[in-house]
Amino acid sequence: MHLRVLGSAAGGGSPQWNCGCANCVGIRSGHALLQARTQASAAVSADGRQWFLLAASPDVRAQIEAFPALHPRRLRDTPIGGVVLNNGDVDACLGLFILREDQPLVVYASEAVERGLREHNALTRTLERRPGQLTWNRLRAGEVVPLVGAAGPSGLTIEAVAVPGTVPLHLKGLAAASPDDNLAIVLRDAHGHSVIYAPTVAAHTPLLEERARTADALVFDGTFFRDDELTSLGLTTRSARDMAHWPLGGPEGSLRWLAQLPCRRKILTHINNTNPILRTGAPERDELTAAGVEVAYDGLEVEL
Ligand code: MLT
Ligand code: MN
Ligand code: ZN
Repeated sequence: MHLRVLGSAAGGGSPQWNCGCANCVGIRSGHALLQARTQASAAVSADGRQWFLLAASPDVRAQIEAFPALHPRRLRDTPIGGVVLNNGDVDACLGLFILREDQPLVVYASEAVERGLREHNALTRTLERRPGQLTWNRLRAGEVVPLVGAAGPSGLTIEAVAVPGTVPLHLKGLAAASPDDNLAIVLRDAHGHSVIYAPTVAAHTPLLEERARTADALVFDGTFFRDDELTSLGLTTRSARDMAHWPLGGPEGSLRWLAQLPCRRKILTHINNTNPILRTGAPERDELTAAGVEVAYDGLEVEL
């Protein structure tokens, strides 16, 4: 199985268009210890021919151009067979609308995520201009099913694991919270290798822990280092936990949990532009290194 991180930033990207934090300013000025990141997404393939996007980020167009394996091979074509939506947030789904040029794609989503996109949303009609443009395949927590794309079976299976999250901001007050709002995606190949894509995690669960214990690679929520990362800058009154992101640092942080997992690769993604781990040499970055945890960058590849 091949996995390529297409984008490793949280919603907004880094730099974020309206952000003047130290990291965003540093990236704009070409600081040697910082690099730009697009919004979180990954591509996965068992055979290197048919690829699946894990989340469709608002930056998907640039992400496809940056990875030749996703380029068309004929006049009208794509090696992308499908898109797996881990939640219904704008940064995980907006890319679907960017992929509107009448290309058959299979979309895997939970009921909550599919309804959030298809009900009360006129934009979705651009993805339904003709039958077969998108095929919606339902992800049900706890079910392991073959991952099948527009070009047929992928050679992978997919399992959705419900993880604590939240209703997307734009659905607050419109949709009730549901256990399948937010998923960790477990992919397994025919050789028994597995990878978990979990860019948004409010807390661990026994099932997530069980899956993580047998996974070869875990791509995990690295949004914030501290719970008060945004509130201390005066940017919002919502803490990391209020935003359903488990902060990395401190005695109750995700880093302690990650450190004791046996996975060969533990990689943080969906990293907010304010996060100090983006700086090579920062003490927070050294804590990650000591815990055996990597910081994703756009273009990072995992071969299993
Ligand atoms: C998040 O990761 O917390 C969300 O993407 C926030 C948002 O939808 O802007
Ligand atoms: Mn997000
Ligand atoms: Zn910033």
